[in-house]
Amino acid sequence: MNKKIAEKIKELVDQINQWNNEYFNEENPTVSDRVYDSHLKELVELEKKYPEFVLENSPTKLLGSSTKSKFKKVNHNVQMLSLDKAYDFNELDKFFNDIISVVGNDNIKFLVQPKIDGLSISLRYVNGVLSQAITRGDGQVGEDVTFNVKNVIKDIPTKINYDKDIEIRGEIYISKTNFLEVIKNENTNYANARNLASGTLRQLDQDIVKKRNLSAFFYEIVNAQTHKIFTQEEVLSFLKEHKLPYVKECKIVEFQNKNKIFDFIKEFEIEKRNEIEYEIDGMVIKLNEIQYYEDIGYTSKFPKYSIAYKFDEELTQTILDDIFITVGRTGIVTYNAKLKMVLLKGTMVSAATLHNYNYIEQLGINIGDEVLIKKAGEIIPKVVSLSKKNSKGTFAKILICPYCGSKLLDTKTLNNQICPNYNCPEINVKKIIHFTSKNAMNIDGLGEGIVRHFYNLGFISKIQDIFTLYKLKNEIINEKGFGVKFFENLMEGINNSYKASLDKVIFALGIPQLGSKNAKLIARKIQKLENIFSISIEDLSNIKDIGEVTKTEIQNYLEKKENIDLINFLISININPVFVLNNKKSFTFFKDKTFVISGTFDISRNEIIKIIEDNGGNVSNSISKKTTALILGDNGGSKIEKAKKIGIEIIDKNKFSELIK
Ligand code: IVH
Repeated sequence: MNKKIAEKIKELVDQINQWNNEYFNEENPTVSDRVYDSHLKELVELEKKYPEFVLENSPTKLLGSSTKSKFKKVNHNVQMLSLDKAYDFNELDKFFNDIISVVGNDNIKFLVQPKIDGLSISLRYVNGVLSQAITRGDGQVGEDVTFNVKNVIKDIPTKINYDKDIEIRGEIYISKTNFLEVIKNENTNYANARNLASGTLRQLDQDIVKKRNLSAFFYEIVNAQTHKIFTQEEVLSFLKEHKLPYVKECKIVEFQNKNKIFDFIKEFEIEKRNEIEYEIDGMVIKLNEIQYYEDIGYTSKFPKYSIAYKFDEELTQTILDDIFITVGRTGIVTYNAKLKMVLLKGTMVSAATLHNYNYIEQLGINIGDEVLIKKAGEIIPKVVSLSKKNSKGTFAKILICPYCGSKLLDTKTLNNQICPNYNCPEINVKKIIHFTSKNAMNIDGLGEGIVRHFYNLGFISKIQDIFTLYKLKNEIINEKGFGVKFFENLMEGINNSYKASLDKVIFALGIPQLGSKNAKLIARKIQKLENIFSISIEDLSNIKDIGEVTKTEIQNYLEKKENIDLINFLISININPVFVLNNKKSFTFFKDKTFVISGTFDISRNEIIKIIEDNGGNVSNSISKKTTALILGDNGGSKIEKAKKIGIEIIDKNKFSELIK
């Protein structure tokens, strides 16, 4: 038991130290704040419970950074602390209650201020002249970056009209506009504005720093009371008076109107966040009355009189630049959004799904509006709400298929529109793309791009043509960008597909609504592809896991001549596999349970899904009360919080490997 705990602590220490290094020294964080925080919290708790196992190099002994760098190290006169974080209003209530219990009454005010996503800086003014600018570093020792600040960052005055020595702290950041400029003009790969600001400030080339146009905000005066400053309101007045830029979008609220604090936070999270020129990742709430600060006190890392409320990082806002439709292999129309490029959870996003027209109507959105987007599942973001109406009315329904000009039909179920044209070129090409795709016949060398190219060239116009591509050897080899090697690989890929298992072939047929899982059930039932023609209604209704809609789709599919021709063709070229029972050991653990997978593993996500599904389990994209457990790999994102909130079991990478051993 103890050995396990010591091991766990070491694992957490190593992991967090690695993240710290990525964040502070390489300016290349690979993990979200939430994941970072939850690991750190776990470590803090374990260390509290088992102090005998606390390691020398534990990150809890530092404030975040190892201080190896090219700049001179300077001790901070007064330690630069960090802020504790709250992720919901309950946590804020606890913060308020703790303060009130020290103050003794609730006749107090709070300053609510955006939390700027930059890097903190401490400035010393001696006799009114800027003498030193130091980064936070580990909180005790920072880096002297005066060279890159003084006369370089316009927002930071070299002189102020105040004689007494004073230390003022704030945040250096890069505005959204300047961030995009830099990304556009320089070939840099900074994932976000904060990294760029931090990387820039720690540049040795001053010209680069100048060119990148960093900005600054101030929010703290060290030992404020010695300067006769007794409230946060007075801090702001001081900053204003001495022309030190401060965050204007803030509010002083009497605690008796606590809801106004929450409303102000919500307003920023939903709307304002995207209207301001600087990135913020939350709101800071500070007790206004500085006189109580010492009594309220500190933990080793945080003051207890301020806290940072962190936004849900999965949501962000952007402008809806265009709406267009695509048509899938079954003819179903999907509405898509083209977006003004934004950063969402570390990736640049410029497209999102809007599902169907009904969804657009419900949101009431139109081109030009500002919308809120969210990462859906693991891959495609979706538009979740309208955040600011810039247009009139709602986008008009598209009535004509853009690929073939046919009139689109409304389906009775699921609010979908459908292109009814069997010869619609887009439907045809999508069928071929589906057939060759990874979870279907998995034909190497025939990915979406090549299929579209060959389709446009007329090399493939239906699935059957794939198997006669060998006749076009010369044409393919002579096509620009292809050649002999490509052709040979392609032939190998096609030959390999003859070995596809029965369920894969059934899935590849593209029967509407029929996913991989149901394809396996059918495969088990029919045993051999040719038997698909004799599958009866009773056979289907005996497979209890297949829904009514899918059953109807299977029957409809098998009545169409073109589909019958395709299956007969496959059989004729000997793609007629026999069902093979997966006789690998089965893991009863997964049976009839639902799992959500998040993060990265040593094996691919698809392989994990396969293991779970092969063993009678289900995989879903989002956590709900129905989820049995969250299977968590590295960098698992904010799903952890939700799992914890609902109280869902978390199976980590190691435990998962144990389970499937
Ligand atoms: S007050 C004890 N106000 O957030 C530090 N900090 O996660 C008191 N930050 O180290 C800081 N915006 O670098 C304060 N309006 C704001 C802020 C802010 C950004 C940074 C600051 C701090 C970090 C804590």
